[in-house]
Amino acid sequence: MRVLIGNSASQVAKIAAENVLAGLTAHGSGNTPVLGLATGSSPLGLYRELAQAVREGKADFSAARGFALDEYIGIRATHQQSYRQTLISEVCNVIGLPEHFLFTPQGLGETIEEIEAAAANYDQAIAAAGGIQVQILGIGANGHLGFNEPGSALRSRTRIKRLAAKTRQDNARFFEGLERVPTHCVTQGLGTILEAGRLVLVATGAGKAEAIAAAVEGPLSASCPGSVLQLHPDAVVVLDEAAATGLKLRDYYDDAAAGLSNMQLHLD
Ligand code: GLP
Repeated sequence: MRVLIGNSASQVAKIAAENVLAGLTAHGSGNTPVLGLATGSSPLGLYRELAQAVREGKADFSAARGFALDEYIGIRATHQQSYRQTLISEVCNVIGLPEHFLFTPQGLGETIEEIEAAAANYDQAIAAAGGIQVQILGIGANGHLGFNEPGSALRSRTRIKRLAAKTRQDNARFFEGLERVPTHCVTQGLGTILEAGRLVLVATGAGKAEAIAAAVEGPLSASCPGSVLQLHPDAVVVLDEAAATGLKLRDYYDDAAAGLSNMQLHLD
């Protein structure tokens, strides 16, 4: 795992975007980038940096595929707070990814079985697109990835999950009262997320410090779903100073941040 710490919000966004673009090159095949997309405030700066790369001719998402991490159950895809609408306005319209190439889990159905079947099909759709090359992630204050709440199976697939009370409270600000917040969601599983070529997780602010310490340095445990990053061969965690305060190995991360560029190849 690479842990990169920026000293400002704009630096965090730039570092994250560089690592997304490099990940698409490293894990891409052909001209169709396949991105995994997270909602939330954490990756917004990253999306703006990707848009800047498009303007500078360094990236092009006009033929890309985007797969959302998760979606609420029980609200229409056209609802303003659905993750589909959120991603259309915060990602598609920003980086130039056509709406018809954005895939989101199906959160509305006549029966539970219908939603379950659509969730299984979602994993198949990801595989049919050749797999996600770079998955962008945030992390919940309780350590959740996507909506894999604490207790989620470490090899889970896309499926229905109950939202944790803490998550519903955190997200109530987007709805008209707690009782309007969906109780359930469909989320990519932790096993699904681990299949992406590269993971780029962005976290900022003191409210994420505990979750980041548990995810990056804590034991691998379903109690902190973010700890599955430790299983991934190409995971990049981009933090600001506040989110990094709980890390014990900070000096090492700073030493290693330059990657292989300052390696001494011949010492005698
Ligand atoms: C939601 C999303 C997560 C996201 C989290 C953190 O719960 N399902 O994918 O990581 O919020 O959001 P924020 O970045 O706004 O703190």
